[in-house]
Amino acid sequence: MAKLSDRLFRGVRPALFRVGGGDAETAHKWTLSRLETLDRLGVLRAMTRRITRPVDDPVTLLGVRFANRVGLAAGMAKNGEALHAWPAVGFGFAEIGTVTWHAQPGNDTPRLFRLPRSEAIINRMGFNNRGAIALAARLREYGPDAAALRTGLGYPLGISLGKSKVTPIEDAVQDYVSSMRELRGFASYVAVNVSSPNTPGLRTLQDKGFLQELVTALRAESDGVPLLVKIAPDLTHGAIDDVLDVCRDRGVSGIIATNTTIERAGISSAERSLAAEAGGLSGAPLTVMSRQTVRYIADQVDGELPIIGVGGIGSAADALAMREAGADLVQIYSALIFRGPAVVHEAARALKEHRG
Ligand SMILES: Cc1cc2nc3c(=O)[nH]c(=O)nc-3n(C[C@H](O)[C@H](O)[C@H](O)COP(=O)(O)O)c2cc1C
Repeated sequence: MAKLSDRLFRGVRPALFRVGGGDAETAHKWTLSRLETLDRLGVLRAMTRRITRPVDDPVTLLGVRFANRVGLAAGMAKNGEALHAWPAVGFGFAEIGTVTWHAQPGNDTPRLFRLPRSEAIINRMGFNNRGAIALAARLREYGPDAAALRTGLGYPLGISLGKSKVTPIEDAVQDYVSSMRELRGFASYVAVNVSSPNTPGLRTLQDKGFLQELVTALRAESDGVPLLVKIAPDLTHGAIDDVLDVCRDRGVSGIIATNTTIERAGISSAERSLAAEAGGLSGAPLTVMSRQTVRYIADQVDGELPIIGVGGIGSAADALAMREAGADLVQIYSALIFRGPAVVHEAARALKEHRG
């Protein structure tokens, strides 16, 4: 079945990349809205059950049963769109959001750039989303399925929280806490996003003092839902050590490494002009950087904190290398755009076989 979806994807990719005159965000919105319609009609749910089941490789981590080790990374379904699409694509779990307390439009367009030769994306979306209340309303619409998703009967759902742009950094804790209260009932885990390069000042929340205050407040409101911290690949080892100290001290359940980078290494010379665009770089140029970050974290925590490895996973070999570096689970975003669902199935199958 993975072969069929691969052939289908190869067939439609050129047309998809031409949607909106080649504008990446238009293509993204077009695809999501089609998936959302198919989901509302029940087509995707039926498809997942009968045709395109994710690789069956259940693993229990954080007290949650994941269908397999490969998840959808945050940023694709910011408003909880088309939740039945992601298992149909082969994912064993999905992280939705990042959502903020206040609805916000994000940065001015254009703000999303595909670099196909480099198999990379630059984005400065700026947390465009409908806000935590609207996300909770959307999740309620899934009815009993939402509960099934949360308990991992279908597949687990992570919810990524970020800071609203209008909220000053000194009020950030309250902003995150409001979202947590609204959404904790729907989440298998909550991810604290303090690592997007596209919200001014956000990455200062990775600093020890801020992070301590933030995760303490969020843990107090989490109602037992595991809390994970997502970090940038641009942190020094000293800064990662600080984050890990806070996580261990304050009962954080795990680390997600990494978000996009502000570096620009690894871009093909033919696409150098796009390197000047502001934003976070993801995809193939991030593979080694993210893996090294995961390896460093794994060496420090020595199995004490579960790690979700994300960044530039574009093949089964990349997924295996991320696992070997110390990741318990992995996530994919950019490679889904360039390679389609086949990469998800291949990665999940390789990780299953690796386990033996
Ligand atoms: C267009 C786009 C939007 C993203 N939005 C978010 C987001 O809202 N929250 C977040 O934590 N990460 C976000 N990310 C980062 C991804 O979740 C992931 O960490 C990063 O892209 C590296 O993985 P990849 O190389 O497989 O894409 C976004 C990435 C892209 C390409």
